[in-house]
Amino acid sequence: MNIIVTGGAGFIGSNFVYYELKNHPEDRIICLDKLTYAGNLETLKDAMKYDNFRFVKGDIADRETVYGLFEEEKIDIVVNFAAESHVDRSIEDPEIFIKTNVLGTQVLMDACRKYGIKRYHQVSTDEVYGDLPLERKDLFFTEETPIHTSSPYSASKAAADLLVLAYHRTFKLPVSISRCSNNYGPYHFPEKLIPLMISRAFENKSVPVYGKGENVRDWLYVEDHCSAIDMIMRNGREGEIYNVGGHNERANIDVVKTVLRIMDRSEDLIEFVTDRPGHDRRYAIDPTKISNELGWTPNTAFDEGIKKTVEWYMENREWLNGVLSGDYMEYYDKMYSNR
Ligand code: NAD
Ligand code: DAU
Repeated sequence: MNIIVTGGAGFIGSNFVYYELKNHPEDRIICLDKLTYAGNLETLKDAMKYDNFRFVKGDIADRETVYGLFEEEKIDIVVNFAAESHVDRSIEDPEIFIKTNVLGTQVLMDACRKYGIKRYHQVSTDEVYGDLPLERKDLFFTEETPIHTSSPYSASKAAADLLVLAYHRTFKLPVSISRCSNNYGPYHFPEKLIPLMISRAFENKSVPVYGKGENVRDWLYVEDHCSAIDMIMRNGREGEIYNVGGHNERANIDVVKTVLRIMDRSEDLIEFVTDRPGHDRRYAIDPTKISNELGWTPNTAFDEGIKKTVEWYMENREWLNGVLSGDYMEYYDKMYSNR
């Protein structure tokens, strides 16, 4: 099969490219990525060695580019990872989130309609469900939980999800959607909590924790997310949504302390800073549907995954230093200097 992976130069997309090359050598992977600040060709340098891998630089919201690619290749599956993905950036400047996350999704699906495909898979997020109260540990997001978004990022992802479902109902496009909780692992951009803590702690710099660090996220090792998407796009039912998560809820402050402990750094590095506006309190996924229907279960426990992740960053300081370029330093100063 010929599979387009959009956003394959980013965190989860690149892990998915490697997952597919390893587990489905019979398929051909075409990565379409605009190479924004979050996309990095260095991440794909080993993939470039495979004959069944092709990289195309392009914007999913650019109709000419997307249609041109479908003219060149007979596509069976599109997996759409491409997105603006950072909540804090969406609070600073929402516009590009609408363009890429909503309009980009529309252009990709229009191409799928025009040229025909077997499956369009939308990589969505648990953030479309909003948040859960901290004190109600009995509540989880199911696929029936109403959409109730908090940030421009999550609103753009929810808008895209609704568009995907509309294309299924109205045009019979064979779609599926996955909504996963927070991922962590290799190639994670150091603007997100875990890689930011690791990169700051390497240099013995303060690690910024929003509010009191009480907000809870449900962490999943990135390879487990990749295996779930692979199962859904190949065997999941058309028109269906699948939640993905491994029941691994942690308060941010505990995650930060764990990272500091593994890195043998003092908790004195922790600096409590002004909270994120509209900060979602708790995410918690109920993965019963994907587990019952497709037999998916996660393989990597948090204690193992977080150690592997810190070790990966230690062994790949060059990748991290490459990413921490001049532009990134400006971003850090802008976002954190007045917090
Ligand atoms: P990321 O920011 O690391 O990577 C995004 C990639 O998309 C980059 O390579 C970037 O260059 C590319 N891109 C951005 N705009 C583009 C455009 N217009 N055209 C083509 N390429 C473009 O993101 P990520 O954390 O890997 O997330 C990937 C997807 O998974 C997103 O759709 C996100 O909403 C979803 N998701 C992320 C998480 C998480 O914890 N990170 C959890 C659930 C779902
Ligand atoms: O749940 C899935 C979502 O997870 C994805 O859809 C998003 O693309 C992804 O970025 C992630 O969103 P979060 O907002 O949960 O991730 P982030 O790493 O930005 O923050 C995780 C938690 O840590 C959150 O409660 C905010 C907090 N935080 C974050 C940063 C960057 C801090 O306390 N300090 C920080 O410096």
